[in-house]
Amino acid sequence: MSATFEVINPASGRPVASAPDNGPAEARQAAARAVAGFGHWRRTTAYERSAVLRAWASALLAREVEIARLMAQEMGKPVTEARGEVRYAVSFVEWYAEEAKRVYGETVPSQAAHKRILVQSQPVGPVYAITPWNFPAAMITRKAAPALAAGCSIVLKPAEQSPLTAMHLAELWVASGGPPDVFQVLPTSNPGAVSEVFFDDPAIRKLSFTGSTEVGVRLAAQAAKTMKRVSLELGGHAPFLVFADADIESAVREVLASKFRNAGQTCVCANRIYVHDAVHDAFVERFAAAVAALRVGDPLDEATQIGPLVDAQGLDKVRAHVDDALERGATAVVGGSAGEGLVFCPTVLTGVAPGMRILEEETFGPVAPIIRFEADEEAVRQANDTPYGLAAYLWTRDLSRAFRVAEALDYGIVGVNDGLPSAAQAPFGGVKMSGVGREGGKWGIEEYLNLKFISMAL
Ligand code: SIN
Repeated sequence: MSATFEVINPASGRPVASAPDNGPAEARQAAARAVAGFGHWRRTTAYERSAVLRAWASALLAREVEIARLMAQEMGKPVTEARGEVRYAVSFVEWYAEEAKRVYGETVPSQAAHKRILVQSQPVGPVYAITPWNFPAAMITRKAAPALAAGCSIVLKPAEQSPLTAMHLAELWVASGGPPDVFQVLPTSNPGAVSEVFFDDPAIRKLSFTGSTEVGVRLAAQAAKTMKRVSLELGGHAPFLVFADADIESAVREVLASKFRNAGQTCVCANRIYVHDAVHDAFVERFAAAVAALRVGDPLDEATQIGPLVDAQGLDKVRAHVDDALERGATAVVGGSAGEGLVFCPTVLTGVAPGMRILEEETFGPVAPIIRFEADEEAVRQANDTPYGLAAYLWTRDLSRAFRVAEALDYGIVGVNDGLPSAAQAPFGGVKMSGVGREGGKWGIEEYLNLKFISMAL
């Protein structure tokens, strides 16, 4: 295969490198290799799989700086933040290296004296995974590590914007003693045609996808043709509720971290910030000062906190959301416009109200819309008034309110006085249009296991 496609650095607009441009023929070969790989990998012991995963984790960690720089160049994540992502990516591999050894079976009391009921977990089979550009390393290991730990093989199609990190991870897998047919990376500039091959192949037993809700809905329908298991981690529209009794300093610090992580390009970024009337002005004043101080610049510069958006399409959407809000009466207390190249200046909007696009769609950019509220119930109602249900956050010092609101929020993840709850050992995933299934923790490996009931008559 000789075709390639260019990977463009969003900071400079110049090519970083080229990646192999796989098509349907290569996809069919990869699927066949994954089936063969599954045949031998499923027969290895959990201890053997664990050893390879541990070696892979060490290899990734040893190349933290190199991988972070690659990420910064191909999708614009500031390099300091990208180093954090490499450690986050490694945490999934480390976790599942251990979890591989804890795939237990069960025995169940029988209704008949001569029967025994056994329940075993077995790997689902070859997996097809599609990963996004916003976490070029961690979204790969969050899928690949549990799949590999469970005994599945996996073919992974990375986003067109970030194939280089993915290819590097696959090289390190092989260098760590991982069989090449068990974890394959298949970059392509034609994702539809490549994915079709896997959807049509009944031997591929599972789809795992992270990306937009719109695409996820389409892929789920395609995967249903061959009745694959599916895990879908889709869009979010996270509300962040700051109550009257909140610790304002910590709320400002954590909204900043949640909202401006990866220039606002994560599914769990705070997208709608509801602030109680009693603390609204104090919050806005401190938050605006903190946002104005964010350092925008070259992703390869250690001091940079905000890099460019990934592409022109992303920038256009952010601009359209901000323009719409300003036209409908919002005020930009910081930012409000695009900067150089693909940069959108970190922005704080006040006076944001229902009916503005920014409250209805995921913005995926460095824009913080603030909505004033008076009654707790109204804030919770507005927070839940969305088709999405991935992550939500609330800030309060009152334990009863914390429980009441956390339980009332219709979301898969709730951060109580915590703006960055993601962790390898915890279940990540959403409800409603934010997806199905969970990644991370003991739940993440179950997505790659089928239960087998063995009824044994003596
Ligand atoms: C995502 O944006 O989907 C991932 C965010 C995270 O793992 O915290």
